[in-house]
Amino acid sequence: MNILKCPVCGQELRYNEQVFRCENRHSYDVAKEGYVNLLAGRKSGDSIGDNKEMALSRRGFLNKGWYEPLAKAVTETLDRYSDDGDSVLDICCGEGYYTEYAAKRLSREFYGFDLSKNMVRLAGKRKCGATFFVANIAAIPIRDSAIKAAFHLFAPFHAAEFRRIIADDGVILTAIPGRDHLLGLKEILYDKPYLNDEKGPEADGLQIVEIIRVRDEITLDTHQDIDALFQMTPYYYHTPSEGMDRLARCESLTTPIEFVIIVYKKKP
Ligand SMILES: C[S@@+](CC[C@H](N)C(=O)[O-])C[C@H]1O[C@@H](n2cnc3c(N)ncnc32)[C@H](O)[C@@H]1O
Ligand SMILES: [Zn+2]
Repeated sequence: MNILKCPVCGQELRYNEQVFRCENRHSYDVAKEGYVNLLAGRKSGDSIGDNKEMALSRRGFLNKGWYEPLAKAVTETLDRYSDDGDSVLDICCGEGYYTEYAAKRLSREFYGFDLSKNMVRLAGKRKCGATFFVANIAAIPIRDSAIKAAFHLFAPFHAAEFRRIIADDGVILTAIPGRDHLLGLKEILYDKPYLNDEKGPEADGLQIVEIIRVRDEITLDTHQDIDALFQMTPYYYHTPSEGMDRLARCESLTTPIEFVIIVYKKKP
């Protein structure tokens, strides 16, 4: 079944020889990196979302496996809530680390999208068998109820669109930072580090079916990894200069990582 729809007219998109087309002759070419731009109005570009340097830094960090405990838990959860051949979607997939991790381990039809072309381009280059596209969570070019399991990690939430695209017996998983997540980093950056409040997103029309906690501890001992982690966090944008100086002098960083995976289904 074709689950993608045309961002202009809403008709089903069919794929043939590197092009997605609808019956109204709107067409979308697959770029050489292996992704397609389905952003309505095509207002995409390198200016939207994370810049190239941040995208590369994120990819380098994730590829080293520092967040593998989360990738593993997400994959195991997707496995429990979907069957072989089902459609699985990575919402705001970034540079595709989690999509690839799951796609290598599960026999599903994987899709991933993000608003940032830089990110989706890197995801496409992974050549992991998933279909990657550029799109906005506010208008996801996927047909109603077409997704059996979606996952959504550290990104803006859009309950109405997520509810629309998942099947009646489908689920959406999201992950939020757990209480102690990156406490070791915050202890370097701030005089009084706060614990995370574990507040889930506003999820109107969805109900929680399961909550899974993932905890581990990591030790980063290169500046490259420490900087890459810092750049991936919201602290990157508001840390006082003394905290930045302390981090710059830091040779090694040990910190708990903690995630809370929330599984939702549609409210009847
Ligand atoms: C912190 S990153 C997380 C990426 C990926 N899920 C991961 O964990 O590696 C947040 C992502 O959300 C994307 N994003 C932000 N707003 C978006 C929107 N309105 N529609 C689609 N993606 C969006 C950004 O481009 C970015 O790649
Ligand atoms: Zn169309």
